[in-house]
Amino acid sequence: MAEEHEGPTKIGLIGTGMVGASFAYAFMQQGHASEMVLIDSNHGRAEAEAMDLNHGLPFVRPMRIWAGDYADLKGAAVTVVTAGAAQKPGETRLQLLERNVAILRAIIPEIVRHNPDGIILVASNPVDLMTYLTLQISGLPPSRVIGSGTILDTARFRSLLGEHYTVDPRSVHAYIVGEHGDSEVPLWSLANIGGVPLKQFHSSRGTNYDAAALQGIFERTRDAAYAIIERKGATYYAIGLGLVTIVEAILRNQHTVMTVSSLMTGQYGIQDIAISLPTIVGAQGIEEVLLLPLSADEEDAFRRSATTLQERFTAVSTTS
Ligand SMILES: NC(=O)c1ccc[n+]([C@@H]2O[C@H](COP(=O)([O-])OP(=O)(O)OC[C@H]3O[C@@H](n4cnc5c(N)ncnc54)[C@H](O)[C@@H]3O)[C@@H](O)[C@H]2O)c1
Repeated sequence: MAEEHEGPTKIGLIGTGMVGASFAYAFMQQGHASEMVLIDSNHGRAEAEAMDLNHGLPFVRPMRIWAGDYADLKGAAVTVVTAGAAQKPGETRLQLLERNVAILRAIIPEIVRHNPDGIILVASNPVDLMTYLTLQISGLPPSRVIGSGTILDTARFRSLLGEHYTVDPRSVHAYIVGEHGDSEVPLWSLANIGGVPLKQFHSSRGTNYDAAALQGIFERTRDAAYAIIERKGATYYAIGLGLVTIVEAILRNQHTVMTVSSLMTGQYGIQDIAISLPTIVGAQGIEEVLLLPLSADEEDAFRRSATTLQERFTAVSTTS
């Protein structure tokens, strides 16, 4: 892991499509690591991304970036998994899920074989199920398997709330928990701007509490992927930056609170599934999943979201 690792800090990336390449492009600008190996079943694609990124190095900080294979993951502090299959015309979500499960079953044993001591960060969708499967396939301790979870949804939520209130989204403290998907849950009862609960945030700009407008903001958050995919086919910049933030928290042992997906061990009565709650992330990976003082409705919605995931996991594990 990052703290114990001697020599250059290395990270691995499996899947150099839109999400993987966006992550790699953002990551190389941060200077957090000195080596990044790119792996893709389409090796030419990984090679082309490595070439393009390398040509940008004179504008940032020196770093070794190359298209490699699984053996090159040896000693990587973190391996980011963004490999996935896109939906084919006429294909159901369950069929797509089965294809992505097959991809994961091919990738994870190779990562662990060559890098048993690293952390795996999964972004491939459906990310909560993929995270739970990675945990099962890898046999790694739960602290070392992290899903990007609702980090993106939380960012979208903060961004839209910031726009609505004309406030820097970094000053908006609001979380989306649960599934990264349709059953996700906004934690309105805890949302605040600079410590002021949203219900009491009476701005001089005329943005008083407006339940209908806020519900609209949540719906735009939850449905953002559909809106973007409809217009440009995929979403990748914001998740790329989100993945950089998670890797940074690990490499710099920052103990950052983020809504990542990890194994539940009885939180709100939930276990045996990976799902998102605000979580402290550092060099050891998952350090602590926080228990928040949720309202009764929020707690129920979180449990329903977890149950939805468990049912879907049972469906896929009995068909593949
Ligand atoms: N977690 C999130 O918030 C979030 C956000 C956006 C997208 N995603 C997901 O990220 C994944 C990637 O999306 P994308 O837009 O980059 O897709 P993409 O099709 O552009 O890229 C996927 C890449 O994975 C590679 N790949 C496929 N099978 C592989 C295997 N067995 N081994 C190695 N590489 C393999 C492909 O060659 C391709 O380069 C999808 O599952 C998508 O749904 C997640």
